[in-house]
Amino acid sequence: MRLSQLLFTQGFGARRECEGLVLGGHVVIAGRAEDDPFLEVEPEGLVISVRGEKWPYHAKALVLLHKPAGYECSQKPKHHPSVMSLLPVPLRVRGLQPVGRLDEDTTGLLLMTDDGALIHRLTSPKKHVPKVYEIETTDAVTEGQIDALRHGVVLHDDRLPVRAADCEATGEKSLRMTLLEGKYHQVKRMVAAAGNTVATLHRSRYGVLALPADLAPGQWRWLAGPQAVLGPA
Ligand code: URA
Repeated sequence: MRLSQLLFTQGFGARRECEGLVLGGHVVIAGRAEDDPFLEVEPEGLVISVRGEKWPYHAKALVLLHKPAGYECSQKPKHHPSVMSLLPVPLRVRGLQPVGRLDEDTTGLLLMTDDGALIHRLTSPKKHVPKVYEIETTDAVTEGQIDALRHGVVLHDDRLPVRAADCEATGEKSLRMTLLEGKYHQVKRMVAAAGNTVATLHRSRYGVLALPADLAPGQWRWLAGPQAVLGPA
């Protein structure tokens, strides 16, 4: 692939801008500034440096963001900044989108990708990808509430009950719940239907992936590919 084309696919702007980056000596490969936009490079496994920042080539981008409270998952946020604003410009230009949504006040593990097929695979209820939520409640958690969440509660716009794949108390006023679907406000509505109220909500796992303890709120990192979330094929 031509170097300027590679930059274009990675979100470094319009074709002309990508050519300009190379001509201006801002693109370094293996310690050497390359000034030929038409240089043929092998993209797989390539790490380029653009204006001093390292960029591993990814045909499709998949990143993990530690979502802080106070950010909306929408592309057109209404009251708070978008989670997109936490990503560097090339990832925004590439059109990364959140995989499902977390509420503005929910924190934790948010996947973002430009791979539409992967979004479908991860969010389809038929695929049963588990998501784990750490919940603090306003009132003490009871055995009855845990039973209800495990056996199923009916949300008012649904005919059939939804149940947690797993649910346990983690403290007097806290719960850990695993869901296989991702309905609108599902955790908050399920906890409300069971007779309690969510005070804080944090997603700690998505598939086999746990939110790394050393990833601070607002920080993001690359994931190697879908197997980082779905496990080995
Ligand atoms: N369920 C909710 O209610 N909110 C979230 O942000 C995620 C799951």
